[in-house]
Amino acid sequence: MKPLSLLILNGPNLNLLGTRQPEVYGSTTLADIEALCHAAAAPLGARVDFAQSNHEGVLIDMIHAARGTHDGIILNAGAYTHTSVALMDALRSVALPVVEVHLSNIHAREEFRHKSFIAPVALGQICGFGAAGYALAIEALCGHARSAEKV
Ligand code: DQA
Repeated sequence: MKPLSLLILNGPNLNLLGTRQPEVYGSTTLADIEALCHAAAAPLGARVDFAQSNHEGVLIDMIHAARGTHDGIILNAGAYTHTSVALMDALRSVALPVVEVHLSNIHAREEFRHKSFIAPVALGQICGFGAAGYALAIEALCGHARSAEKV
């Protein structure tokens, strides 16, 4: 089984998980989520690079650098999900498989969160399952990569 390399990117304010609106996002910290991702990826033969930035341009640079180094991207773009044509364009440019993740169910929240600029360039979206959504995304992305290997 070829080892897979996944980039897991987190956008603005997600560094504050654990203390940020726990009634919406729970008490899990970003460090907890990173540990969960490593644990979920290992049995699937995948390694994970895990990163967070509050800056749109830094996220774009990390997406560009993923081409040729990673097999796919899991992205929780935070509020940039709902605003960033630039992130959508970056994902489209690198043409890597992407799974969109949100801790909360963005469709059950304010109307401005229903629109995602990531969804049109993603394989799919996982939202509303808290930190477990990251493990689901890893499973989905590895499954996609493994089925592409067989083609
Ligand atoms: C979020 C949902 C976004 O609407 C919000 O701006 C975030 C977090 C989530 O994980 O539920 O920062 O992406």
